Amino acid sequence: MRFDERTEPLLEDIAQKIITCRKCALHEGRKNAVPGEGPQHARLMMVGEAPGAKEDESGRPFVGQAGKLMDELLAKSGIKREDTFITSVIKCRPPDNRNPNESEVISCVPYTLAQLDSICPAVIVIMGNVAYQIFAETFYLPKKNISDVRGKGFRLHSTGARILVPTYHPAALIYNRSLIPQFLDDMKTVQYHLKVLP
Ligand code: URA
Repeated sequence: MRFDERTEPLLEDIAQKIITCRKCALHEGRKNAVPGEGPQHARLMMVGEAPGAKEDESGRPFVGQAGKLMDELLAKSGIKREDTFITSVIKCRPPDNRNPNESEVISCVPYTLAQLDSICPAVIVIMGNVAYQIFAETFYLPKKNISDVRGKGFRLHSTGARILVPTYHPAALIYNRSLIPQFLDDMKTVQYHLKVLP
């Protein structure tokens, strides 16, 4: 028996499922679901929490204020947004940008895991405490606050992604600019892993 055929769905097939998803109540209030964007063969995947108003309007991830700051910091770090697959754990905007509830997380996480399997990135960056806690639960990572785990590299044995690096959410950096140097340091760690991983 040969095992060299990939059976994971392509990103565009997963996106179609997300766009028409009605698994949780968030679909009732959305203008657009936001599957994420970036190349099928990205070596880096970045995952935020959930779309905000601008993302809901456009159907694109990280196009609001937090996205602009993220773009600026990625450029400073020598990381090209267009080479990166960018998404959020939750694909539809929660009302008033509240934290996602358990049933929303349970409904949506499989999409993000399918994207992870489809891309098999070398590095996955998890941005913010809410997204990190969801990944910690899913992959048995330390149940610690983002400020205690940021910048560390965790090996993900059960997925194609080889190293997971948590960092602050760009929205947090807008309110607390003193965290920006730490985010930039974490991107250096990401660049290191991208360089050494085949
Ligand atoms: N915050 C997120 O987590 N995701 C977006 O797409 C925008 C803001």
